[in-house]
Amino acid sequence: MEHNAAHSSHYQRQHCSTQSLGAGMNQLRHFQYPRFARRWIKLSAGLERRGLAGLREQTLTGLVGRVIEVGCGNGLNFRHYPAGVDEVIAVEPDDTLRTAAEYAAETAPIPVSVVAGHADDLPGADGSYDAAVVTLVLCSVPEPASALAELRRVLRPGGQLRLLEHVRAHNRVAARFQDLISPISAKLDAGCRQGRDTGSAVRDAGFAVSGLKRFSFPDRPWVPGQPMICGTAVLADEAPV
Ligand SMILES: C[S@@+](CC[C@H](N)C(=O)[O-])C[C@H]1O[C@@H](n2cnc3c(N)ncnc32)[C@H](O)[C@@H]1O
Repeated sequence: MEHNAAHSSHYQRQHCSTQSLGAGMNQLRHFQYPRFARRWIKLSAGLERRGLAGLREQTLTGLVGRVIEVGCGNGLNFRHYPAGVDEVIAVEPDDTLRTAAEYAAETAPIPVSVVAGHADDLPGADGSYDAAVVTLVLCSVPEPASALAELRRVLRPGGQLRLLEHVRAHNRVAARFQDLISPISAKLDAGCRQGRDTGSAVRDAGFAVSGLKRFSFPDRPWVPGQPMICGTAVLADEAPV
């Protein structure tokens, strides 16, 4: 347990001194949402019980090698990483959530290093990860195309992007409703945009998206669910056109 916490701060000293703790630290001021963070820590516990934990498990199943998780929040994915994962570098810009993630890393089944950073400026050389994980994050980043380009940079050719994201509704009325409430959720929920077409953004960034499935969450007849996508997108060898 202590090993992971020590590993985390060691990683920050060794690898993030300029990228995330220098100039990057200045950039992180734009991603501090302490009220949202406290609310998410409470709210997410209920969502986990209502099925989100199972979706996390599905999203991460079969992962192997070196993994980067972007926007790890309070670290709810950590306990679901399979044994084949050698190491997770978990990037989180918000100070409150990052502190919670550091606690979660201590009991993770695989080594997790929690680092300060954000989606547009990830730690790691080009092609240095076997897989990347984003869950409920691409709705919140300022520019999905730029975050996906950065994910593309750090993934090796053929690397996997594992996703669990809420997305734009197919139904036109529902999509219009998402557009209407999006400015409110962006204000209250750490920049979260309701109606983003994340599946198309992932495909446009040069990933093969045939491994993504679409569903509603929560999946209950009496509760209107949110459209979501979950699964694996694979980095194509060729650059996107
Ligand atoms: C709804 S929470 C989800 C947290 C976590 N991924 C999970 O599945 O529980 C949204 C997360 O996105 C993070 N986030 C927002 N903008 C970000 C950015 N530009 N780069 C990285 N993470 C970002 C927030 O700090 C927060 O942790």
